[in-house]
Amino acid sequence: MSLATPFTTGDGRAGLVRPARARDGRAALAIVREAAGEHPRTLTVTVGELWSARLWRRRRMDWGPGGVTLVAEVGGEVAGSLQCSRGVRIADSHCARIGLSVGSPSRGIGVGRALLTGVETWAREHGVERLELGVFASNERARRLYERLGYEVEGVQRAAARFPEGDLDLVLMAKWLR
Ligand SMILES: CC(C)(COP(=O)(O)OP(=O)(O)OC[C@H]1O[C@@H](n2cnc3c(N)ncnc32)[C@H](O)[C@@H]1OP(=O)(O)O)[C@@H](O)C(=O)NCCC(=O)NCCS
Repeated sequence: MSLATPFTTGDGRAGLVRPARARDGRAALAIVREAAGEHPRTLTVTVGELWSARLWRRRRMDWGPGGVTLVAEVGGEVAGSLQCSRGVRIADSHCARIGLSVGSPSRGIGVGRALLTGVETWAREHGVERLELGVFASNERARRLYERLGYEVEGVQRAAARFPEGDLDLVLMAKWLR
């Protein structure tokens, strides 16, 4: 199965989803940094807690049984990234947890959708049946995308995130691939 999947953006540009390489670290982190600084909040992580480029490289996962780090390129530049980690226990090894961010200039043109489609290919290839994520109740854009792709709401963790400006509820969503 091909590890790199081409796609076309909503505005007609060539995109590619592929496993991240060590040298993607700075670009991928810059996108997460931007998202971590946004208000209203979209990520649990705050800017001061972000991984260094070195730690990102160490935590980056090749396409393998434990998970994968994917990037989406548009016009040869990293436009978004996705991290997926499989459960480490026998009992949850059929599950994998996803986090993703797309840089603001590349949002709304199918980059997030392409990353989530790419991770499904990884999951099916490795026998992962359940993809899970948490999304702030207020993050309409992300929730809409997940719903369109078949993720279902399984519950809400009330005030699961505490920021200086207030608490946020976290919606738990999952998609079964079997
Ligand atoms: C959420 C995010 C990953 C989505 O990625 P994206 O590349 O913008 O999403 P796509 O362009 O693939 O898809 C957008 C979908 O969301 C929906 N959407 C787009 N803009 C929207 C908006 N302003 N309001 C509500 N829904 C919207 C559309 O239904 C679209 O679905 P479609 O492809 O069926 O038309 C991206 O916006 C992002 O990184 N945001 C900041 C970080 C974040 O929220 N990460 C996820 C944390 S759980």
